[in-house]
Amino acid sequence: MTAAFAGAAEASAARLCAASGVVDVEPEMRRATLQVVMDTLLASYDGAAPEVLAHTLFGDVVVRPTALDLLGAPPWIPAPGRSLYRSRVRALREQAREAVERRRRSDLETGDLLGALLAARDPENARALSDQELVDNILTFIGAGHETTAVTLTWTLYLVANAPEVQARLLAEARQVLGDGPVTADGLDRLTFHEQVVYESLRLFTPGPLILRTARRDVDLGPVQVKAGTNVFCNLYVLHRSPRLWDHPSAFDPDRFSPERSAGRRRFAFIPFGGGPRVCIGARFAMMEAKTFLATYVRAFAVEPASAAQPLPRFRLTTSPDGGMPLRIRPRAG
Ligand code: HEM
Repeated sequence: MTAAFAGAAEASAARLCAASGVVDVEPEMRRATLQVVMDTLLASYDGAAPEVLAHTLFGDVVVRPTALDLLGAPPWIPAPGRSLYRSRVRALREQAREAVERRRRSDLETGDLLGALLAARDPENARALSDQELVDNILTFIGAGHETTAVTLTWTLYLVANAPEVQARLLAEARQVLGDGPVTADGLDRLTFHEQVVYESLRLFTPGPLILRTARRDVDLGPVQVKAGTNVFCNLYVLHRSPRLWDHPSAFDPDRFSPERSAGRRRFAFIPFGGGPRVCIGARFAMMEAKTFLATYVRAFAVEPASAAQPLPRFRLTTSPDGGMPLRIRPRAG
């Protein structure tokens, strides 16, 4: 998939360079990462425009809970946000189901995720995925597969814009490993400082900061007793900035992820992709994608703060910056 990542990154860098000056980079990050998911995972998907789906999932309707939701009222109790959400989701599911049908009838072979899901058989009973499972997977991958990476890239650009010395190191590494050429699979493995920068951005502005679970049995957490049936919210934003786990937790310091300084760190001190059986299935995909974009961007343009204002993260399912992310883009000569 590296070639698809590199192509999307170069097209995105070209759009940002063409815009140049002060640009709100957030919409561009969404557009580019959505393109990557559609090209690599759902190349044959011809259902609802992905932008519509993304808006339904991350726009105001879904992520703004109503008072009824907060009170735990059952989903059939009507409220304006709820019925709008339900009708949009119904329409999207229907379109995704029709896209699956069309793909079944075609003999297209693109090697994408949808083809793999259609061909998949349970090794024990040879059962194929049901239509409902296919639709669930399509919608999950579009939603889970781009917004988090877009948020990661947005905050990474912000952090890099405000740390010229980090930007210079990224540029030097990208040029040394890749020259002027596109990002390659082999090159990606050697972009180690890029990886540290992305990790540090994931720590400071964890894109998916809430992991939710319902306790299946009573659990003794020392100072806290969790009763079976309790809903538990793990706040990764707090975990990743805890002074008990991190020195100078608010500082942007990519070197804290160097091999030397990472040695001995507890596995669950840093879990932007979750952990355990439900760990993010796209973690490697996302890291490769983010590194590809970063190495392409730093060689194409310099990025600087547009003002002294500090953007604040706003939690709506993901941690996007409140009011967008205006940054100054200065295309590099040549
Ligand atoms: C920086 C980018 C990303 C972040 C921070 C992120 C974060 C997470 C987290 C924290 C979870 C676990 C949720 C839980 O335990 O309840 C998760 C699950 C998941 N992620 Fe990601 N993710 C990212 C990118 C991606 C990408 C690119 C894809 C698809 C290609 C993806 C697909 C999924 C799926 C399908 C799950 C559910 C896995 C399961 O429940 O078995 N994610 N992600």
